[in-house]
Amino acid sequence: MTALNIIILAAGKGTRMFSDKPKVLHALAGKPLVQHVLECAISLQPEQICVVYGHGGEAVPQAMQRYADRFVLQEPQLGTGHAVQQAMPHLNDDSRTLILYGDVPLIQHSTLHQMQQAGNGLVLLTVDLDDPTGYGRIVRDPQGDVLSIVEQKDASAEELEISEVNTGIMLAPTTKLREWLSKLGNNNAQGEYYLTDIVAMAVQQGVSVHTVQPEQRWEVEGINNKTQLAALERIRQQDVAGKLMAQGVTLADPARLDVRGELNCGRDVEIDVGCIFEGKVMLGDRVKVGAYSVIRSASIGSGTQVAPYTHIDQSEVGANCQLGPYARLRPGTKLQDEAHVGNFTEIKNSEIGKGSKANHLSYIGDSTVGSRVNIGAGTITCNYDGANKFRTIIEDDAFIGSDTQLVAPVTVGKGATIGAGSTITKDTPAGELTLSRSKQVTIAGWQRPVKGMK
Ligand code: UD1
Ligand code: CA
Repeated sequence: MTALNIIILAAGKGTRMFSDKPKVLHALAGKPLVQHVLECAISLQPEQICVVYGHGGEAVPQAMQRYADRFVLQEPQLGTGHAVQQAMPHLNDDSRTLILYGDVPLIQHSTLHQMQQAGNGLVLLTVDLDDPTGYGRIVRDPQGDVLSIVEQKDASAEELEISEVNTGIMLAPTTKLREWLSKLGNNNAQGEYYLTDIVAMAVQQGVSVHTVQPEQRWEVEGINNKTQLAALERIRQQDVAGKLMAQGVTLADPARLDVRGELNCGRDVEIDVGCIFEGKVMLGDRVKVGAYSVIRSASIGSGTQVAPYTHIDQSEVGANCQLGPYARLRPGTKLQDEAHVGNFTEIKNSEIGKGSKANHLSYIGDSTVGSRVNIGAGTITCNYDGANKFRTIIEDDAFIGSDTQLVAPVTVGKGATIGAGSTITKDTPAGELTLSRSKQVTIAGWQRPVKGMK
């Protein structure tokens, strides 16, 4: 196949977003609109990708640097034809050029591939709409061959009846495109250089014009405001939910799932309502995720049960663990199989051994916890002295009484027991009971204070 150049138009202001951020950097399914387009573009293995940007200073090139080969500033913005012109000096002649849009995020590889197969002339991606208002219309002759595209504002009453519209996405031989663009004028209703005017030029020169339609209507949906952004987000999420269910995942409600990254599931996974998955998440066989859990960049081993409202971030969880409700695993947490982390327990940068439990109200930070350890309610590792962080080591089979503070660096020996309410500042011997509490005393005859006379 002929080599491919891809131009992504992303210079529009996005006035209707009412935002300081360039439109194409607003997020859909957890990543910028234009990043969706760039990832799809990359999947076609083009020779180069060139992004035409305008508003927002260097924000677009900075954010998308690693996805494109080149960023070209279009200033001022004089129309879609003018935008494409800005990229032309950088393109190789012996190639074809595909034009995509930074605010049309869900275009799919398969549709673009179909365009590449459609022919060697000019290939337009078109779609039939019940309400074509606002779009450029595809004008055909009685034989059905494309003659031109006419913009809404330039169309006759008859042309406005046409339901087939221009999505804007097109593929053209680069040398021809260069020639046609150089001849564009702006004598039209909007005083803009219309990319769409190249269609009539192609027809005039006898270059064949082909049309392709997208597999899904939403692939060519553009975003101009927050309502359209939210609508397309739902479409995307429905599509993700549909694919998960097709693979056998049980979703309590496919309309209440948000995947903002990549979610991979084993067999018989169940996900309750309101869960959010970010980054790359792997759920093993039979994992159950309770309602309103937020899981980001994590792997969860088979058979593990995640109770509602659990937050997991950049952590690795073994098999058959029990988490939550209301547990929080922060970055660097590693739970071995059968560990239990219960309500209001926070774990950070720590390894918890097989079968160990921290079921209530604890903070475990920068710690290495062995196997079969029981961490009582309200236990806190004091890992930070205000300047530096230190590790706590709790060896296998230790039992930490409730409301214990372990002041790091400190090691609790194998099988050691710590009495409830202790503040442990020195290493504790294996197999022994250590506690640090003042003796309980009773003051005989003590009276409660009473209110004084006024
Ligand atoms: C364009 C098409 C129209 C098509 C419609 C699909 C033209 C003349 N018209 O119309 O046939 O039905 O898209 O949505 O092409 N842009 C730039 N620089 C510019 C102008 C636009 O980068 O100077 C970018 C915008 O950011 C946007 C895209 O090009 O992503 C389309 O521009 P827009 O002004 O929205 O074109 P439409 O009038 O909608
Ligand atoms: Ca538009």
